[in-house]
Amino acid sequence: MSLSKKPYKGTRDFFPEDKRIRDYLFQKMKETADLYAYESYDGPLLEEVELYKAKSGEELINDQIYSFHDRGERFVAIRPEMTPTVARMVAQVHKEVSKPIRWFSIPNLYRYERPQRGRLREHWQFNVDIFGAPETMGELEILQIAVSLMESFGATSEHFEILINDREIVDLIFNKVLKSEGDLSLKLYKLVDRYKKLSREKFNEQLEQLNLSVESKDAFLTYLSLSSIDELKKFLESNKLETEGFSLFKLGEHLEKLHIDEFVKYDPSIVRGLDYYTGIVFEIFDKNPENRRAICGGGSYANILKIFNENPMPGVGFGLGDVTLRDFLTTHSLLPDLSKPVTKIFLSTQDEKGLPYILKLAKDLRKEGISVQTHLETLKMNKVFNLAEKKGAEFVGILGTNEIESGVIQIKKLSDKNQKDILISNIEEIKGFLK
Ligand code: HAM
Repeated sequence: MSLSKKPYKGTRDFFPEDKRIRDYLFQKMKETADLYAYESYDGPLLEEVELYKAKSGEELINDQIYSFHDRGERFVAIRPEMTPTVARMVAQVHKEVSKPIRWFSIPNLYRYERPQRGRLREHWQFNVDIFGAPETMGELEILQIAVSLMESFGATSEHFEILINDREIVDLIFNKVLKSEGDLSLKLYKLVDRYKKLSREKFNEQLEQLNLSVESKDAFLTYLSLSSIDELKKFLESNKLETEGFSLFKLGEHLEKLHIDEFVKYDPSIVRGLDYYTGIVFEIFDKNPENRRAICGGGSYANILKIFNENPMPGVGFGLGDVTLRDFLTTHSLLPDLSKPVTKIFLSTQDEKGLPYILKLAKDLRKEGISVQTHLETLKMNKVFNLAEKKGAEFVGILGTNEIESGVIQIKKLSDKNQKDILISNIEEIKGFLK
């Protein structure tokens, strides 16, 4: 029997071309986090399952977690998300660290999913979280960061939208209008979360199973049909509920002033599948109907530190996946051409005696911070340009047999064929030509 060369189901091998794309995505993520002064952190790949049981929700625990008993009989999981880890870490230091705490990380996560477009078993996720920020301000900054990242790739409000909701308002509607609490409320949340994923028929079937009264069912469907903040306010008013004091409305005013309201749209079906969210929740969606998967999801969670017996401290953040981001950028042709590696200069010689000279030149140029590929054996003239192009070189340097004695190297720019003969010892002139 021969072993399969394929990676484990739902995971990826990153060959250099794919890895270049991943590096590019990560670089933009790090640059964006730096712009907002977020500090980088990391945590372990394994956590005790209890950590997720406390807050993440049934779906993650029952269906998606990779878990096992270690040799010491601890029940551990490969991290399916980063929020419980970052909360655990913040719980250790929050008393000593000045607020707000602004942290980011790009962990790989494992979820046992049916692999499909936008969903794999291993993905990397840009996590950005702020802890201890005043109400609405954390949410505002987190949304700004998400928009900045998308803009750094050249994406605009034509390409993506941020669908937003407020779980405090949803709670109020569920409690006061639908008269639901506890378990029923949780089931309603799950159903709302699946609203767009289920066919109307399946959705109605699952709704029937909840045995709501006719009035509650009508109110629930009316709620799901709301399509703007104004409609939501009218719905609250018509049900004699307050419309003041909610983060969603306060946030709206700030978003307008910062001109990021063009990206943001109220959507009653956004409630998020994870149980720890308590306030604002949001997801970024591609506007292209061919690629309607959430690129990013996040929100505010006020009580997560309580599971560590710490005082509550508001946290807000998001996770943005590499798989969905890459699909989005590809759909809109926003990825640069990364098909080839990038090297400044490819050096070669046709003569054994020339090898030490080009190796020495390569060493001198690298000291100057210039990336150099040397061909490590002699290479015929008719092969040089083809190979240099394949290897992604911008310039080619050839030391011909007759030039070894005179020490002159011919350097050619591949894009415009502009060329110059330069003394191999004249690093300054070579550097100048390579600019
Ligand atoms: P999430 O919605 O489960 O949230 O995941 C966030 C994003 O990660 C999704 O929108 C998607 O882009 C990507 N993602 C999730 N699962 C997969 C998968 N199986 N394959 C590919 N991509 C995936 C969270 O994980 C929260 N912990 C995010 C957060 C951080 N909330 C506050 N801070």
